[in-house]
Amino acid sequence: MGAVDHAPRPSSPGEQRAPAPAPPELRPANVSHLYVHLPFCAHRCGYCDFVTVVGRAEEHDRYVDALLAELELERELLARPLETLYLGGGTPTLTRTGALLRLLASLPPAAEVTVEANPETVTSPLARALRDGGVTRVSLGAQSFRPDLLATLGRRAGAADVRRAVYALRDASFDNISLDLLYGIPGQSAADLDADLAQALALEPEHLSCYELEAKPGTRFTHRHGAELGAQAEALEGYFEHVVSRLTAAGYRWYETANFCRAPSVAGGRDLRARHNLAYWRGRDYVGLGIGAVSTVGTRRWRNRPSLRAYVGALLRGARPAREFEELPGPVRERERVLLGLRLDEPLALAGLERAFDAAGLARAERLGLVEHRPGTVALTRRGRFVGGAVTADVVA
Ligand SMILES: C[S@@+](CC[C@H](N)C(=O)[O-])C[C@H]1O[C@@H](n2cnc3c(N)ncnc32)[C@H](O)[C@@H]1O
Ligand code: SF4
Repeated sequence: MGAVDHAPRPSSPGEQRAPAPAPPELRPANVSHLYVHLPFCAHRCGYCDFVTVVGRAEEHDRYVDALLAELELERELLARPLETLYLGGGTPTLTRTGALLRLLASLPPAAEVTVEANPETVTSPLARALRDGGVTRVSLGAQSFRPDLLATLGRRAGAADVRRAVYALRDASFDNISLDLLYGIPGQSAADLDADLAQALALEPEHLSCYELEAKPGTRFTHRHGAELGAQAEALEGYFEHVVSRLTAAGYRWYETANFCRAPSVAGGRDLRARHNLAYWRGRDYVGLGIGAVSTVGTRRWRNRPSLRAYVGALLRGARPAREFEELPGPVRERERVLLGLRLDEPLALAGLERAFDAAGLARAERLGLVEHRPGTVALTRRGRFVGGAVTADVVA
């Protein structure tokens, strides 16, 4: 997932902590993480609230022109080479291939280059073209292998498409493939989940993201299934624990709440954590290009407005697109840093973050065995990680 999802979002105007300032002057920086949003999808899945645009193949090239124009305007913020580049969506691999390859060729080089893909869009020629275009990692949205659950989600790809896509990527020499799975789909039994995990593991992905299906406000899916999702909330704790125990038993490292990678001991010593997403969880600066994309640089966060027409129009006139800005005072960034950092299995260094913690809450969580507080660091225990957000909410000031 990219900078329109897991990255912190600017508050909506009603929640803003400080009045929105006039668009700030952007100063040179050395940002090492770049997110590029490719919003085009063949259709809209009912459960999805990401910034997407259905079809409009005739606009793909102009959108890429606009992305490259935005890159030129923000280039001085970016380090060269980058550490990570992430093309997220939408369905990046639905973008007209010529436009997608032109984009890849024009973006700054990066050590890790990830592209999100929907299985039905991955052909052997596309897989080879992505590899030749410098892509090092593909994140494939499988979601489930069961036809009935995929139908409930309104997905177009089936299990056979996922397998075909993985084989095409392997044939094109990709050695870093991630699969996204959803759990908590209405009608999904514990045995269904186990079968999904088994089928995903059989494909030997280097990385797995397993998300609990969220009822996003205002989506068709929530309208139809929201009550069911609410009713199964307790059962989902068991599902989460099952995901973790099944994947860790199979040799995966549970390195972030919803993310797993093959442990170095079974991966020839490779660290297969998603470097781009690690940067979000570690509170690093990042720049996002494209509609709906979020950037956070120093004490400023901005989000491009989601209108495709307005975005392309502004950039092709040489202007920056319409954005919402937010100032992030030190304590706000520190608090975010704790909330995100405690999602990881690595200890969070306390230096500079002391005021973000509530001493009484931290002591309570420690007494309950939810938090491990060592001199200079804090981390959630295994039990604390299952409780997750409720613990972190309790320990932050
Ligand atoms: C926005 S999608 C983009 C990738 C691609 N278009 C796809 O559908 O697989 C990225 C991931 O977000 C997750 N996602 C989308 N909507 C979600 C929801 N309502 N709850 C939980 N995860 C969601 C899915 O697992 C998906 O693979
Ligand atoms: S394909 Fe992915 S991004 Fe597009 S609507 Fe479906 S879940 Fe959202």
